[in-house]
Parts: sequence; structure tokens; C-alpha cells
Amino acid sequence: MSNIIVVGAQWGDEGKGKVIDILAKDFSYIVRYQGGNNAGHTVVIGDEKFILHLIPSGILHRKKICVIGNGVVIDPNALIAEIAKLESEGIEVKGRLFISENAHLIFPYHKVIDELKEMKKGKTKIGTTKKGIGPCYADKVSRSGIRIIDLLSDSVFSEKLKTNIEEKNKILKILYDFKGFSFDRIYKEYIEFRGKIKNFVCDTTLLLNKAIEKRKSILFEGAQGTMLDVDYGTYPFVTSSSATAGGACTGTGVGPTKIGKVLGVVKAYTTRVGEGPFPTEFTKDMMHKIRVKGREFGATTGRPRRCGWFDACLVRYSIIVNGISEIVVTKLDVLDDLEKIKICVAYKYKGKTYEHFTSDIDMLGNSEPVYEEVKGWREDTSGVTAFRKLPKNAKEYLKRIQKLLKTKIILISVGSERRQTIRVE
Ligand code: IMP
Repeated sequence: MSNIIVVGAQWGDEGKGKVIDILAKDFSYIVRYQGGNNAGHTVVIGDEKFILHLIPSGILHRKKICVIGNGVVIDPNALIAEIAKLESEGIEVKGRLFISENAHLIFPYHKVIDELKEMKKGKTKIGTTKKGIGPCYADKVSRSGIRIIDLLSDSVFSEKLKTNIEEKNKILKILYDFKGFSFDRIYKEYIEFRGKIKNFVCDTTLLLNKAIEKRKSILFEGAQGTMLDVDYGTYPFVTSSSATAGGACTGTGVGPTKIGKVLGVVKAYTTRVGEGPFPTEFTKDMMHKIRVKGREFGATTGRPRRCGWFDACLVRYSIIVNGISEIVVTKLDVLDDLEKIKICVAYKYKGKTYEHFTSDIDMLGNSEPVYEEVKGWREDTSGVTAFRKLPKNAKEYLKRIQKLLKTKIILISVGSERRQTIRVE
């Protein structure tokens, strides 16, 4: 089994948690490589629903090793709460979870800056999850961030934290008239966290590369989606990490020659949370219908997701920037009741037609989608387990998508449970 990256090919929430859960049994290691607890990966097993924010979804498979790579930003509070929750549900975490010593830590000032900056932006806000993700990555890139390895040394941690708090307090006072943070309080709190997490920490780059040497297989679990990637997404309405496949290399220290393929996950329609352009967004009635049927509310923030038609231009672009070789289509069942279904095949802007996705936010926001319309199937697909048993029009819809994307669909999900999955031979 070669090493595989699973990546979201839209704006996140494509159902990667379920896909990872289905695939995990064939891999030894499941690895998160970017993002933080802004992610919410949902896995349903029987009557139980698990939402994982930081720990790879593979933790639900008892014998698998899970890794949080150096590209992830960690809020220790959220991590400790997630470990405790899993353990309270009888899932062993000790000895199965390894955290990179190079991962950066989220501090209370990151969360406050995230929130205040959004408030100040008003109408132009990004609509972040307010988990401190952006400010933490900003510190990382500006070389003032604090890594777990820094927390392990009293003197290094104390010095870095002091410098950061001094700087943040000044910024917070001047820009937001915020009273600031106490060094002593945060220091004490994080030293306590250290005691709770230090046994999970190691050089995960070494761990993973040794595993590869021993021919163990690795599944890389992407968070968010291509359109939220800081380089390739709808900037500035993006997250602050490399949510594309390239992030798996920089976020773990596993080189590109060690990766076999990239699997792209798409919903049978499109959703996004937060602000920013969304050419195929539904109008009010349709929005409500799909949001309710698809339970389109954020797994992390509970915010209603914006919903729209499948955008083939956008996914084609994702296929290119990730090198996606195969596709998984999720939530096909959500479209079961529709009489007609639209697929965006091009955009119209200032009288011209474009088939490619654009990074020009203004152009994207003011483009008219060009739609192809296909007939709906108006049958319940949630119990279908074989491709040949899908209604004719559902098969036609999927075949059309496959043709537009020039990429093979290998898996279809028709519900949140493991059994509601169709493997396409
Ligand atoms: P941040 O990652 O909290 O900074 O948020 C930046 C943008 O990414 C916002 O539009 C969020 O709604 C979006 N976002 C972050 N994480 C996720 C996710 O896991 N799913 C979908 N959208 C996300």
C-alpha cells in the first residue's frame, strides 16, 4: 500500500473524516499535516458520532498510530480536552498518538487577536473560526512563534513567552485598547499543559521516515480544503495554512518521492463557511432545502454553511494544484429529491466566457456561472451499496462530473455511516 494524501478539493467540509475512517484500516499511520482545531472531522460509527478537531480520525481504529505533524498549530487546551474525551469513550490514546516537537503552539493572545481583528474589519471580515489559527501561523512565519520543543525548556519558553507577551500587549493596547495578558498566568498554565502532553511529543519526521523505511503505509489527512489554502485559495478569504497536497510534505518532513497518490474529496454540491466569493451559491429557498437535508452546519463553530451547485471549474483547478489522481464524491444522497441539478462548467465575466478558475477575487465574485442542467433521480440513494444499483440519472450525474474533471471517481458516499459507501470498480 503506497502512501496517500487525502485532500479537500472545495472549501473544506467535504466529508474527509468519513473517507479517512473508511481508508484507515489499510494504513499503519494516519497523519495530520496542517491547520489546527479550526477543523472538525466527523466520523459516525453505529449510533456514535465523533468530531475530531486536532487528532487524526484514524485514532478511532484501535491499532493505528496517529501523528500530528509539524505543520499543525496546537491549542494545548483543545488537545488535552480531545484526548480526555476520547479516553472517556474507551479509546486508548497513549502510545498511539505522537506529536511533532516542531509544531507551533496557539496562545490566548492569538485567539484574542483573531477575534478583535475580525471585529475591527466589520464588513470585510474573513469569518474565521476565532481559534487563533491565523495569528499563530503569522508568528510562525515571522519567526517569533513558540514550538512545543521550546515549551520543553523552562528558560527558552520563559524568554520567548516574555518577549511575545510584551509585544502583543503593546499591539493590543494601541490597536484595540485591550488590557493585555499576564506572563505569570500563561506561563503557569502552559507549564501545566507541558506535563500533560510531553509524553506524546517526539521527532515525528524521524518516526515517519523510519516507518517508511520499514514499508509501513501512511495516510495523510488534509484539513480544510484547496479553496482555503493560503496560496491557492480565494485569498484573503482563506485559512493560514497549506491545505493542499504540498502541505503534506512541508507539514511532516516526508518527501514528495515517498508519496504514491493524492485522493481528492468533493461534495456532490458545494459549500463554504465564512466570507468570500462563491459563484454557484444558491438563492434562499434552495439554500435552506440543501442546508437542512445535508445538515450543513459547521462541526467546529455550528455556523450555517453556505451551499451551492457543483462547480467543475473550481474542482478542475484543485485537481491541478494538488495533483489529484482519483476522486471521492460525498453526500450524493443530499440531492435525492431534486428535479433538476446544475453543474457549473464555466464562468461569464464582462461578456467573456472562462473555463478556468481564477485567483482574481473581484472577477470571481462578479462572475456569472454557466450551468449545464441534468435530470434529478428523485429516489432514495442512502441505502445503495453498489454503483450499478444507483438510479440511472444519479449514475449520469456522476459520469458527467467524472468527464468534466477527467479524473476517476473511486468512492461515493451516500450517508454518514461506514456502510453507506459505494466503491466504484
Ligand atoms: P481560520 O482557519 O479560523 O482562520 O478561518 C479562515 C477561513 O477558513 C474561514 O472562512 C473559516 O470559516 C474557514 N475554515 C477554517 N477551517 C475550516 C474547516 O475546517 N472547514 C471549513 N471552513 C473552514
